[in-house]
Amino acid sequence: MSKTRKLYVKSFGCQMNVYDSHRMADAMAREGYVETDRPDEADVLVLNTCHIRETAAEKVYSELGRLRRLKEKAAGDGKRMLVAVTGCVAQAEGTEIVRRAPVVDLVIGPQSIHRLPELVARAQQGETVIDTEFPVEDKFEHLAPPSRVATRARGVTAFVTVQEGCDKFCTFCVVPYTRGVEVSRPVEKIVAEVALLAEAGVREVTLIGQNVNAYHGLKPDGTSSSLAGLLERLAELEGIARLRYTTSHPRDMREDLIAAHRDLPKLMPNLHLPVQSGSDRVLEAMNRRHGRDEYLSIIERVRVVRPDIAISSDFIVGFPGETEEDFSATLDLVERVGFAQAYTFKYSPRPGTPAATMSQVPDAVKAERLLRLQALIDAHQRKFNAAYLGDTLDVLFEKPGRIAGLLVGRSPYVQPVQVTAPADLIGTIAPVRIVEVGPSLSAELISPVRPHVLRPAVLAAAGGA
Ligand code: 5AD
Ligand code: SF4
Repeated sequence: MSKTRKLYVKSFGCQMNVYDSHRMADAMAREGYVETDRPDEADVLVLNTCHIRETAAEKVYSELGRLRRLKEKAAGDGKRMLVAVTGCVAQAEGTEIVRRAPVVDLVIGPQSIHRLPELVARAQQGETVIDTEFPVEDKFEHLAPPSRVATRARGVTAFVTVQEGCDKFCTFCVVPYTRGVEVSRPVEKIVAEVALLAEAGVREVTLIGQNVNAYHGLKPDGTSSSLAGLLERLAELEGIARLRYTTSHPRDMREDLIAAHRDLPKLMPNLHLPVQSGSDRVLEAMNRRHGRDEYLSIIERVRVVRPDIAISSDFIVGFPGETEEDFSATLDLVERVGFAQAYTFKYSPRPGTPAATMSQVPDAVKAERLLRLQALIDAHQRKFNAAYLGDTLDVLFEKPGRIAGLLVGRSPYVQPVQVTAPADLIGTIAPVRIVEVGPSLSAELISPVRPHVLRPAVLAAAGGA
């Protein structure tokens, strides 16, 4: 009697992992595996892991503890479960994972995830598989294109990896070691993938890469395209209404990308530009290759072409050697920029990175600075959102809200917006009036509703493209 085989994938960390997780599920679907969100009923369990901070890496081991109990119980019932650790912890720790957690059958680095089906087949023969080969051939060439069914189930927004890896070597960061040197995908491969997503109902695409604005993929004529060029090409695709990109490095913020925020109506008015610190001394020790004035000047130039742009960032507090004066410079930079949103982290020493061996700031100091910075950023975020009270904003409706009758969508500025609206507006963009502001916005439809972007079924019925 044949039984459907099931795959459970849990993604940790960044959007790139979410994307890789979808691609692994697509590759396994070709082998007949169906995705499940219940680990207890899976035949193959994949933890797609993150190594960026110690807390992220430790989560994997506590999850493996849970999976061990599941695997033992399944074995008692005569069922064989396979456990795979993929992603950046796999790359960084390799065989050490199996030593520490013998429940693991496969360890697969980010460059080898396209080999998952073949490696699972080997593990089924009883082999413990370690594949952290690096670097290898272009994994994107071997990844299955997104399947229509899977894409449709995943909604109206999608992430597409356009670039992977990083050559910057910030002294705190593991990415250049786990994801390798910077590689850009060719323009037409991305266009084909985005066209398929559009056909499946996706309306908003976020281009992702660890250093996305360093993108330099090949064009069919053999020359290379900047990120601005790629965005311009993707904006030609009719079904796609909104484009975003993340994460950018200040050093790669070229003038053509800034100009794209003026020239491309589909390019949404938000920019995630991590600065990490507002102190020149710390930026230098971090090897960020720019100073605070250079950062402020980029923000100024972006705001000249797009005054309403929502700027967001990442910050690290308590980097080795950070003094109270350095930290004050960070607070001052936050005041000057007025971020719409930001992620804040306590510095976490990562084995093998230069900063791990520098003299460390006590944890209590880091914790206290984190609270102060977060409070300031929260105040700025509230101020940014409050400015839209009573305004009309276009919202792309993404999914039903938690309360019946509510839909959740996003404004052009990435703010989550809750609106009482009929479910058939999902996948469309319509103007709403903001009636309540907080960490998210509440809004009401402006009637009569005339969504700007129709769903593919509606377009087809109307004879559109
Ligand atoms: N400790 C704390 N935060 C880190 N980040 C990267 N490495 C570390 C580290 N060792 C943060 C940076 C980066 C974000 C993705 O994670 O702010 O922009
Ligand atoms: Fe890490 Fe720096 Fe590269 Fe960003 S730019 S991925 S922080 S090394």
